[in-house]
Amino acid sequence: MAFPETFLTELTERNDIVEVVSSYVRLSKKSGSNLFGLCPFHSEKTPSFSVSPDKQIYHCFGCGKGGGVINFIMEIENLSFPEAVEFLARRVNMPVPEQENDRESKKRSRMLALNKDAARFFYEQLSAPGGAPARDYMQRRQIGRATATNFGIGYAPDSWDALRSAMKAKGYSDFELFDAGLVRKGKSGGFYDTFRSRLMFPVIDVRGNVIGFSGRILGDGEPKYMNSPETLVFNKSRNLFALNLAKKSKSGYIILSEGNIDVVSLHQAGFDSAVASLGTSLTPEQARLISRYTGEVIIAYDNDGAGIKAAQRAIGILEKLDLKVRVLRLTGAKDPDEFIKLKGPEAFRNLLEGSEDQIDYRLRTITDQYVLTEPDQKVDFLKEATGMLAKLPGAVERQVYAMRVAELAGVKGEAVADEVERRRRRMLGAARKNEAKAQSRPERQLQPEEKSFRYEDPASAAAEEGLIRLLYLEPSLANNAALPPPEDFSAPVLAHIYTVLRDKARRGDSLSTATLSGELSGQEMSLLVQLLQKPERLSSGERAMSDYIAKMREAKDIRDSKNDLLGYLKKQREKMGIEG
Ligand code: UTP
Ligand code: MN
Repeated sequence: MAFPETFLTELTERNDIVEVVSSYVRLSKKSGSNLFGLCPFHSEKTPSFSVSPDKQIYHCFGCGKGGGVINFIMEIENLSFPEAVEFLARRVNMPVPEQENDRESKKRSRMLALNKDAARFFYEQLSAPGGAPARDYMQRRQIGRATATNFGIGYAPDSWDALRSAMKAKGYSDFELFDAGLVRKGKSGGFYDTFRSRLMFPVIDVRGNVIGFSGRILGDGEPKYMNSPETLVFNKSRNLFALNLAKKSKSGYIILSEGNIDVVSLHQAGFDSAVASLGTSLTPEQARLISRYTGEVIIAYDNDGAGIKAAQRAIGILEKLDLKVRVLRLTGAKDPDEFIKLKGPEAFRNLLEGSEDQIDYRLRTITDQYVLTEPDQKVDFLKEATGMLAKLPGAVERQVYAMRVAELAGVKGEAVADEVERRRRRMLGAARKNEAKAQSRPERQLQPEEKSFRYEDPASAAAEEGLIRLLYLEPSLANNAALPPPEDFSAPVLAHIYTVLRDKARRGDSLSTATLSGELSGQEMSLLVQLLQKPERLSSGERAMSDYIAKMREAKDIRDSKNDLLGYLKKQREKMGIEG
């Protein structure tokens, strides 16, 4: 653990979770001792985000996120564990202890140094004699020298070990290169350069660190881009390409596009606030990051079906953060890069100034799907349009756009406005019912929210959860000889949480969300908090423990006999000469 336990304990004592959460979420008392509010991590109409002042934890019954005060700050401020600790320490004026022997933070800074050296190497290769193919390609794409310098664009030579040998000469090991995603392991056990014969875009975070790379093939071919894998310093869903440059823009808005090349092209044409998500659709974390720097986002996605869908999704995410959103209509070009090449920066500027707000945009996308002179289609259009308008939070907006829709369809304004309000009431009613249902039916929460954690054997997992809960609440059980080994768990994620808890308790460390935050991932922490919500028979801890162990064994027997049966059937089939 990077920080001393006493420090973490004091830190969380001085940062009361209710106070901290309250500066992001309006909390009110609902039932019992818990406070409730609208979850900041997913969209909802009635509050299912709860904070427990007693346990000093938060938990959302809707999306399953949960943890202690440090997790909350990590999640909402988009910070790593040590950064969140620092954030909270600053909040209450506590000095942060030196982290001299912090292995993880040393590893991080070493990886950042390696990335920076690698970026420099790629950049130098661009001007080297061997860089001719990349220079040709840049010329074809009309990317100038100054732009290349501004972005730190480089070239990964057509070689299996150019980067590897250059970095090894600088003292980095194969394992460091491997962890940073810069080399891969071959079948024979040797390492080779990940990026070969590609135009290299360093991904630089807002603090100026090179956190990863995106490499485009020179010309046609697959895959078009190769990106750094997720590493200790690179998390695709929490960063945006070129935000390090865009954050300095004076334009007052951020232009959100899809491609690296679009961003480069936009900056080169003077639109210095362009960013792109790193090959994924926009994530809530990225939106939150954007909202730190601007109040307005202009979406300039590709002019195709996928781009339109992606824009609609992005609008939903951005709106939740109270960002003003507008969408560009790129007529006559497939993307911003092509638009600028074909029509020039001035035309793009005009587009920016005339870009539609998102309600207009959505309405137009709906209108485009129907032929309004056909009665059937007109009905469908009205259905879809009133459904969209019903979701608008502002009553005036709903009214104004209802009139627009009525005009488009050639029907009476009041009729449309009434329909919109009717649908809105129905929608809110249904949402309320659903949330109430979700909260009153515990079996719906049997599976973790996180899809990749899905339990193969829910009966066993329920008992495994129980064991974890017991251990958390009663750490002295960690030394009980009857405690099963992690191998007996059916769910890998539960086995891992269990191991961390057990080993910590055996060392005599205290178990709290603060001390566990450094060792469990955010998703694991959410799961832990979720399973802590259920009641536990603490007064007869040992008894509860043996019950859980018995249930796990029973479930395992059933699993084993099922496997035996399958094995038996397979053998029978083989005997009879049936394949499969
Ligand atoms: P595009 O295919 O639109 O690429 O993918 P582009 O950058 O606009 O390049 P050109 O103009 O077609 O040459 C958009 C983004 O999706 C990610 C990259 O971040 C890219 O910039 N992507 C695309 C990948 O990660 N992998 C791929 O194979 C393709
Ligand atoms: Mn593109």
